[in-house]
Amino acid sequence: MNIQFTRQPSLFRLLFVFAVFTFFNLTTVSGQLVPNGSSNAKIGSFVDSILVKMTLEEKLGQLNQYRWVWGENEEPIRQQYREYIKEGKIGSFLGIFGVESTRELQRIAVEESRLGIPLLLAFDVIHGFRTIFPVPLAESASWEPANAEKSARIAAIEAAASGLHWTFAPMVDITHDPRWGRIIEGAGEDPYLGSQMAAARVRGFQGQDLAASNTVLACAKHFVAYGAAEGGRDYNTADISERSLREIYLPPFQSVINSDVATVMASFNEIGGVPMHANGWLINDVMRREWGFNGLVISDFTGVMELLHHGIAADSTQAGINAISAGVDIDMVSNIYLTKLKQAIEKKELPIAIVDEAVRRVLKLKYRAGLFEDPYRYQDTNREKQLLLHSDHLKASREVARQSIVLLKNENQILPLNNNIQSIAVIGALATDGRSSLGSWHGAGRSEEAITVLQGIRDALPGCAIKFAEGYTTPQSQDKTRFAKAVEIAQQSEAVILVLGESGAMSGEASNRSTLDLPGVQQDLAQEIHKTGKPLVVVLMNGRPLSINWLDQNVPAILETWFLGSQMGHAVADVLVGHYNPGGKLPVTFPRSVGQIPIYYNHKNTGRPPDKDIVWTSKYIDIDWTPLYPFGYGLSYTTFAYKNLNLNKNQMVKTDTLDVSVEVHNTGKVDGDEVVQLYIQDEVGSVTRPVKQLRNFKRIHLRAGEMKRVSFKISAEDLQFYNIAMKNVVEPGFFKVYVGGNSVDLLEKRFELVATK
Ligand code: BGC
Repeated sequence: MNIQFTRQPSLFRLLFVFAVFTFFNLTTVSGQLVPNGSSNAKIGSFVDSILVKMTLEEKLGQLNQYRWVWGENEEPIRQQYREYIKEGKIGSFLGIFGVESTRELQRIAVEESRLGIPLLLAFDVIHGFRTIFPVPLAESASWEPANAEKSARIAAIEAAASGLHWTFAPMVDITHDPRWGRIIEGAGEDPYLGSQMAAARVRGFQGQDLAASNTVLACAKHFVAYGAAEGGRDYNTADISERSLREIYLPPFQSVINSDVATVMASFNEIGGVPMHANGWLINDVMRREWGFNGLVISDFTGVMELLHHGIAADSTQAGINAISAGVDIDMVSNIYLTKLKQAIEKKELPIAIVDEAVRRVLKLKYRAGLFEDPYRYQDTNREKQLLLHSDHLKASREVARQSIVLLKNENQILPLNNNIQSIAVIGALATDGRSSLGSWHGAGRSEEAITVLQGIRDALPGCAIKFAEGYTTPQSQDKTRFAKAVEIAQQSEAVILVLGESGAMSGEASNRSTLDLPGVQQDLAQEIHKTGKPLVVVLMNGRPLSINWLDQNVPAILETWFLGSQMGHAVADVLVGHYNPGGKLPVTFPRSVGQIPIYYNHKNTGRPPDKDIVWTSKYIDIDWTPLYPFGYGLSYTTFAYKNLNLNKNQMVKTDTLDVSVEVHNTGKVDGDEVVQLYIQDEVGSVTRPVKQLRNFKRIHLRAGEMKRVSFKISAEDLQFYNIAMKNVVEPGFFKVYVGGNSVDLLEKRFELVATK
């Protein structure tokens, strides 16, 4: 730590240095005081050595986070922030990056504030920093946690090279509601897949050593049940049972805490009358005490202030007291901890011990990021120049993007396109929309650096005549004046690639929809193009499941490509021309209609499960109850057959493991990837259990004609659930094991868990 002594008498300074050296085992590097060692005890002692020197204002400053402002007219605010840093009133910033800008702020903190405590600099690096990867929902469609780890690793390398220490990712919210715009930022509907992807992302961001200059602190968000917002309206109330919390929404958080995630962000919603920014039960009791999380909790943007709107605090002081007492350590942007908590402590409305604990967590985080050792370790202009948009990163982005594509339909093997094709019509404004290719939360990514679908197709087929027409102006537009031109180029070409969907801005924060239909006049356009009789491929770009019944019934080939990032066009073209055989699977159910929501595969059976021949069962009179495409679904240019599902025994005890294996055959003519999925159903429990739950999966590659026997192990942990007393238990009885290539077409076996005496 570079402690500033300018305002201390020199004798005191000498004594202090001696004392600190002796008690806290500090060493000198380049004339600076630096901490030595990383054991918890050493970190604790070091942090306490700073804490004793801090005034109450400086402590509250560490708990205060502001957002950096970039606007041309905002220099007065920036100047004010610089002054605040000197005065120790800011512990961290959000929204700043770039070596030059971050170095300057860090210099002020370290060299001009009284204690020289370095700043933490944070940014939302969600699916890439400058090299953008597929949006998280798409990446989950690859069913390959290694992809999530790789993309997070590269995002961390670039972000850290640009002066950042901390990302507000991964977003680990499970949701059953595709109307909710933020479905795009998570892994979809399943807690198991979500937990695997979440933990992989944390490993990628944080690496092996948080103090290394190529890692960033991760932040699991939003704690918790943010994805259960009623009506799919962002920020809305979540009214759910403790069982749903523990079985659906909490598991990904527990998974990242087991992977040592450094920080967690509170969510905007309330649960059962308690806003999460004041929810001491979930933050302090469940997350900290029950699970042993000892990292830091940050509020969401103005989340502390919003306790006023929630109506549980009459004024800002009460809001601040509620939030910090519930375990929210840093106040992002509300400016309440800094301005209101001093008085609350002086009036004995808030114990200082709570503030001290929060400050300790902030200082520990700075320590873990290596900032006391070298506050400028993330500020290296050369590294920034070399690493951003590095060719290896672009290569990795293309690879992950290809693996994230899901083939929804391919009648008569219309895809891949014939090698000898001479002319293609590419139709749809999204095909040239670089900004949408990047998707929501695209970090420092630039639209002009994204490969669009049109460009990708042109690059992949240099000898082919490719005509382009917009068809629609924007995805939501009602204007049909561009249809004629689109139909004309369709008629002049051998095949049509029609790019439909949502703009990048139609999903993400606050971008909720009340329908899942194709927006604007896009379906009308598809109908016009369909009338030409030309072979038609629809490429979907979208951030959520869409109810595309007409396309499903009429268009021979549909490719779900989401928003795939910097290399989107190349990845899509690789699949269209057959350089890559798609193997992605849906991480979320596609409904037939918005009215089916919530629709998810791991539902309960009910007392009257749907039966088309019996009226008084759980279904609709105007639509089938089944989804359009189920969870885990996706096709390939080849076909796979599952045979000989085998369990090594039909009884096990709690301490056993059961071996499951299945033969997977590539029965088609080309090599391909298949995601082998294992589901379990507890047939009878003391409380009702879902009809099936994903418990394992493997993405495998099979050459044409090849067979592999794929094995899984089942242990008691896979059979656990919360009983009526909310205890995690395993109950003896019969279980079904299902294995297959999606959540519906499955082979089945049964085993018994027998009680041990
Ligand atoms: C979002 C968070 C984000 C924060 C900072 C909020 O509006 O809900 O996910 O990390 O802003 O940008």
